[in-house]
Amino acid sequence: MITVARHAGFCFGVRRATDAVEAKLASGDGSRVFTLGKLIHNDGYNEHLRERGVSEITADDIRSLEAAARRGERITVVIRAHGEITDVAERLAALDRELENFELLDCTCPYVKKVRQIAAENSGEGKLFILLGAKEHPEVRGIMSCLEGEGIVFASAEEFEKWACSENDQNQAEKLGNLQISIAAQTTQNLNEWKKTLKIAKKVYTNPFIFDTICNVTEERQAEAARRAQNSDAAIVIGSRSSSNTKKLFDICSSCCQSSYLIEDASDLSDVRLPRGGNIFVTAGASTPLSVIQEVEQTMNEQI
Ligand code: F3S
Repeated sequence: MITVARHAGFCFGVRRATDAVEAKLASGDGSRVFTLGKLIHNDGYNEHLRERGVSEITADDIRSLEAAARRGERITVVIRAHGEITDVAERLAALDRELENFELLDCTCPYVKKVRQIAAENSGEGKLFILLGAKEHPEVRGIMSCLEGEGIVFASAEEFEKWACSENDQNQAEKLGNLQISIAAQTTQNLNEWKKTLKIAKKVYTNPFIFDTICNVTEERQAEAARRAQNSDAAIVIGSRSSSNTKKLFDICSSCCQSSYLIEDASDLSDVRLPRGGNIFVTAGASTPLSVIQEVEQTMNEQI
């Protein structure tokens, strides 16, 4: 039997971003639409946008788009749900205010915005902001760009513990003793890793400020994946291999069910050994379109 997770596919933030771009394209206002980076972690959907004239840009392209808007072209730039580094976001907002032909569609997820605000408010003189997350992830780079002072990112509880319990570094201990420590997590962080990190933080620091910033969508998805995968003969996670939340779902399924597979779409099922007559659990990352989930389910039904 195939069971598809109740919480699978587009999350609130991704839906909000894709809806905004779809509405812009449907408006027919003649605007050229650009996304800063890939709008979502799904090549099929991004390709579909490209076919309809949406281009992917980097921050280096903003200058030429500004020039185009000044020449009279209508330009729309989209900030995706992950958010953008502060300098870039502020520059785009200023162009939106200044130029009639330049529009910024800021689709930063409200949950991500909340972490950015926490980072800004809990950094600066006498404060140290700590984030559990992936250093190079765009969401994390965006959050850390909001800091008013010092901040450090740790990829795992282990990495954090090594740093926090470094007994040899007397200077560090003295310095930290005088700082107000705040700890938050990337919105898609693994819940268990976060709990382990908090345990260490409470042991090492006196009264750290703790901000539970893993978003509800992530929590529900991960809890459901752990619960269902352990009672399944196989678990299939659908999503991009470059998507942070998809990789974490896969890690959770793998730790509960030996036959766990990460696939991008139905074509990857050829490499999967599906148990005949067994229970198969299917879940999907936050950027996986419903159509891809349905296609996978249909192909599996044909195979078992
Ligand atoms: Fe937002 Fe959570 Fe999705 S932070 S982008 S709703 S995974």
